Amino acid sequence: MACPDLTGAPRPRDGRRRGYLQSKGIRMKAVIPAAGLGTRFLPATKGTPKELLPVLSKPVIQYVVEEALEPEGVDEVIIVNSREKPQIESYFRVDGGFEDMLRKRGKKAEADLVHEASSMPVSFVYQDNPRGLGHAVHCAAEAVGDEPFFVLLGDYFVPDRQMCVRMAEVSRQHGNASVIAVAPVPADQVSRYGIIAGECVGSLDGSDTADEQEGAVWKVTGLVEKPAPEDAPSHLFIVGRYLLSPRIMDLLANQGVGAGGEIQLTDAMERLLAEEDMYALVVDVDEGCDTGTPAAWAGVNARLALKDPSTREAFLEALGRSGLSQAE
Ligand code: G1P
Repeated sequence: MACPDLTGAPRPRDGRRRGYLQSKGIRMKAVIPAAGLGTRFLPATKGTPKELLPVLSKPVIQYVVEEALEPEGVDEVIIVNSREKPQIESYFRVDGGFEDMLRKRGKKAEADLVHEASSMPVSFVYQDNPRGLGHAVHCAAEAVGDEPFFVLLGDYFVPDRQMCVRMAEVSRQHGNASVIAVAPVPADQVSRYGIIAGECVGSLDGSDTADEQEGAVWKVTGLVEKPAPEDAPSHLFIVGRYLLSPRIMDLLANQGVGAGGEIQLTDAMERLLAEEDMYALVVDVDEGCDTGTPAAWAGVNARLALKDPSTREAFLEALGRSGLSQAE
């Protein structure tokens, strides 16, 4: 999996283009579920929430927050946390004393980095019982209010931050409908994901695009969470980026348990289809970085270290010392 354009600086929050959401006065929230136990990263996650594990020197969740704030109209990120992980909240809280100490020691650049994280528009709600992704998203219902909102799953981030921006464009092209990002997956892996049914109805830029090619837009007619391969209605899986109608929150309020005995967001989206249109944008999943397992996380760190000019040479040297420089 490649991680292109890894060093893009955050776009200034001031002086943005006015888009349709802003021109209509819509302010949107983005929800990041982060209440999981992180068992794949034990024993590290006994002491550090997996969301705070660093990719180079920045916690994974900060990449996701930066991505979430990129689409026009998004003015706040709501992190659905568990009370067991107060460190995430501390990370985004201002610590003036710490910043002052760094500045007094001549570490202005480091103080600025610390300040940047604490000045992000992030708030918290809590999921007291881990009852599934649908339940986690519903915990943010009050904070989201009555506007469309994004959901970004936190084990994956897109360095150039454009995936959600493109999803918003598809939504605009289709009457502000809900839009999800999807990508092809081999048949033997469909049971790990949510899978869509539907038909290709065009492409994001209007060009001729093969059905499962990046940029293709599908009208969704069904969704199934973790189907057996023989029951999968397509090979397009839900990547973990959603732009959803607020109506989903009403449906989640009484959503029963589904696959794995959990309240599934996918199941509530299937019910939403009876009332509202939904579209899917085919994306290149390799545009993003998967940090969901120790091996994937290590690979993302390696690729970022190789692409970032400030770490590349030192990283190659470190690999060389252990006879691993072929990893390039
Ligand atoms: C969740 C969603 C699933 C989606 C997947 C993407 O599953 O329920 O529809 O395809 O994320 O990573 P989970 O990984 O939580 O089992």
